[in-house]
Amino acid sequence: MKFTVAIDGPAAAGKGTIGRAVAEAFGFAHLDTGVLYRAVGVRGGDPVAAAQSLSAEDLARDDLRTLEAGQAASRVAAIPQVRAALLEFQRRFARREGGAVLDGRDIGTVICPEAEVKLFVTASAPVRAHRRWLELGGDEAQVLAQVRERDARDMGRADAPLRPAPDAVLLDTSDLPVDQAIARVLDLVRSRLA
Ligand code: C5P
Repeated sequence: MKFTVAIDGPAAAGKGTIGRAVAEAFGFAHLDTGVLYRAVGVRGGDPVAAAQSLSAEDLARDDLRTLEAGQAASRVAAIPQVRAALLEFQRRFARREGGAVLDGRDIGTVICPEAEVKLFVTASAPVRAHRRWLELGGDEAQVLAQVRERDARDMGRADAPLRPAPDAVLLDTSDLPVDQAIARVLDLVRSRLA
């Protein structure tokens, strides 16, 4: 069975938490596609060459979750050849047998427009910055500035900008407890599987 759940949205909206819960509940494979761009960003050197030769080791680095890695990822993610180099792997993952959940920015629009479930998960910038700050610490005002900078870069780029697919279900998690967000998405997936 091929069944793809595409979860897009800005940083720290809750995509990863929801994606992991869906994958676990239905036994689907899960890919956090941001990790691919983070690994390219932190490798340094020519980003196109890095994207074309990403290894399992690159993806297992322990410095991929930092704010710096997020910023580096969003810079290299604006380079069309970087995106092109990562496209096929993501498409194959999306259409693998047994079901797949992918979270990112362009899953429902570019990687897998035929996904059976498309979600666009969002939350206000201050709420998302607060979550990131609880996770990573540092100066909350600076975290908010970085979230806004990354949003602007991800939404403003020419290639695969961050935007909801026309047929995506919108989920604003600003005031929605995480267990309720997960419950709603599980219901949606269940109804599409039926
Ligand atoms: O989701 P995460 O914060 O890990 O993503 C890091 C950066 O990678 C994003 O800000 C975005 O620029 C880029 N990205 C992307 N397309 C994806 C996933 C991530 O452009 N599908």
